[in-house]
Amino acid sequence: MSLILGIETSCDETACAVVENGVLVRSNVVASQHDLHAEYGGVVPEIASRAHVERIPPVLRAALREAGATLADLDAVAVGHRPGLIGSLLVGVGAAKALAWSLGRPIVGVDHIEAHLYSPLLRRPGEAGAGALDEGAYPALGLVVSGGHTSIYRCDAPTSVTRLGSTIDDAIGEAFDKAAMILGLGHPGGPAIDALARRGDDRAHDFPISRLAPGSLDFSFSGLKTAVLYAVRGVPTGASGVGAFARGHEALSGAEKAGVAASFQRAACAAVVLKLERALDAPGAPAWRSLLVGGGVSANTRLRAELAALASRRGLALGVPPMEFCMDNAAMIAGLAHHRLAAGAVDDLSLQAEPTPAR
Ligand code: KG4
Ligand code: ZN
Repeated sequence: MSLILGIETSCDETACAVVENGVLVRSNVVASQHDLHAEYGGVVPEIASRAHVERIPPVLRAALREAGATLADLDAVAVGHRPGLIGSLLVGVGAAKALAWSLGRPIVGVDHIEAHLYSPLLRRPGEAGAGALDEGAYPALGLVVSGGHTSIYRCDAPTSVTRLGSTIDDAIGEAFDKAAMILGLGHPGGPAIDALARRGDDRAHDFPISRLAPGSLDFSFSGLKTAVLYAVRGVPTGASGVGAFARGHEALSGAEKAGVAASFQRAACAAVVLKLERALDAPGAPAWRSLLVGGGVSANTRLRAELAALASRRGLALGVPPMEFCMDNAAMIAGLAHHRLAAGAVDDLSLQAEPTPAR
């Protein structure tokens, strides 16, 4: 049996988890910092790294306690070392190095994005794989939709992942957060838009669905964001085009706001499905067996429904993780580390925090 501790501090969640044999999540503890960043309308890097320093010790203790494990039981220490906010990553990487060194155990650096793509394979002990996939899931088409990333991947194995396309401007989660801000909802805005959209008319506005060049697997959400801004505040006046807006979000009724939220969500989801369809049909595509989805936006109700419909239309198994594994967490880090370790991909104390994605 292998027992791996995972540590994740790439953005604004401080997380530790203990995972058995790469699959069974014995504990998954996440301390969110949303309250600390809410008043700024986004994550403040300096505040995030300081909070990680304070929270790692209690989060680590809680993860070991919940797993019924001690430090001595661990076979390896895994850490999300890229991509992310450099100051935040450094806290997790530093903690992982200290633990691995003092315990005499290997340290395994894990790519946060690859870990999101692995998260559908995780399960809690006793839950007989409710919806979880196994390694028969490959080759899989991977989708990561989060606050920092919107990308499509070809996954041939947990540790063999190739990016096919990604956003050329905003990430989809960023678009949700900005749409929420324009509508006067709180941060993070994704869950607020999701809730408001449920009672809105999704045809109230015909927002743009970006296609980019024929065959492109990249995304663009900045046009959609601007369309939402103009729908809510009116088209700005003034010679420069950046003059005063006609109104604020207060001018809209509840039903009008819900209509904006629902129409925005329809356009954002349609853009994702469009690019997945293109990837499935691309020349040279393998015999896809499943669709693996990760990242915070995969918690979105409409996106989940549309991905389920797509998978069923195309005869693919669907791996959308339960909520606790969608959002940033350390179980996905520890789970994927098991496969890296098995493949001999062990790191040492020279492991670096890397702010940018691998490819
Ligand atoms: O994966 P994640 O926890 O962190 C990043 O790596 O970015 O994703 C956070 C993002 C935020 O933008 C948040 O607004 C969005 O996920 N999100 C949602 C929902 N829940 C979280 N977006 C749409 N609908 C949701 N239900
Ligand atoms: Zn993430």
